[in-house]
Amino acid sequence: MEETIRFKLNGKKKELQTDPANTLIWVLRNELGLTGTKWGCGTGFCGACTVLVDDEPVRSCSVPVSDIAGKKVTTIEGLEKNGKLHPVQQAFVDHEALQCGFCTPGMILTTVSFLKKNPSPTKDEIIEALDENLCRCTAHVRIIDAVLDASGKMKGGK
Ligand code: FES
Ligand code: FES
Repeated sequence: MEETIRFKLNGKKKELQTDPANTLIWVLRNELGLTGTKWGCGTGFCGACTVLVDDEPVRSCSVPVSDIAGKKVTTIEGLEKNGKLHPVQQAFVDHEALQCGFCTPGMILTTVSFLKKNPSPTKDEIIEALDENLCRCTAHVRIIDAVLDASGKMKGGK
C-alpha cells in the first residue's frame, strides 16, 4: 500500500506517494527521473548507487524509501550550484577520472562526504575512503589524483 513520504531532495522539500518498501534508487530513478544515480550490483557491494542521506554516503539500492522520511537526500544532480560544478565534480573532469562514468556519481558523492570530515587527506586515506566504491574501468589512479586536487582547491575556498 502506498504512503506519503516527505523528505528534502537536493535542497527542496519533496512529498511523494509510493510503496514504502520501494528502494531509494527505484524512487529516484523511476519516480523522480533522477537517473544520475546508477544501478550496479543491486546488492550493496559496488557503491555505484551511492547518494548522501544527511550528508552520509548511503547505498540507495539497499535502503527502503521509508527510511529517508524526514531526512535530507543529495544526489549527483544536487551538487552543482548556479550552473557551476562542485569542486569535486570539476576535479573529476579536469583529471579525466572516469571512462564509462558508471561509478562516478557514487565516487563523487562519497568523496564530498569524506572531504567534509577530512579536508586534508593523505593519498592512503583517500584510497581507504573509496575502497568500497568499485570502478570496473580501473580509473582509480586518476580518481585519487582528482580527490587530492579537489581537497587542495576546497581548502582555498573555491
Ligand atoms: Fe548499490 Fe551496487 S548498485 S551498491
Ligand atoms: Fe567505468 Fe568507473 S569509470 S566503472
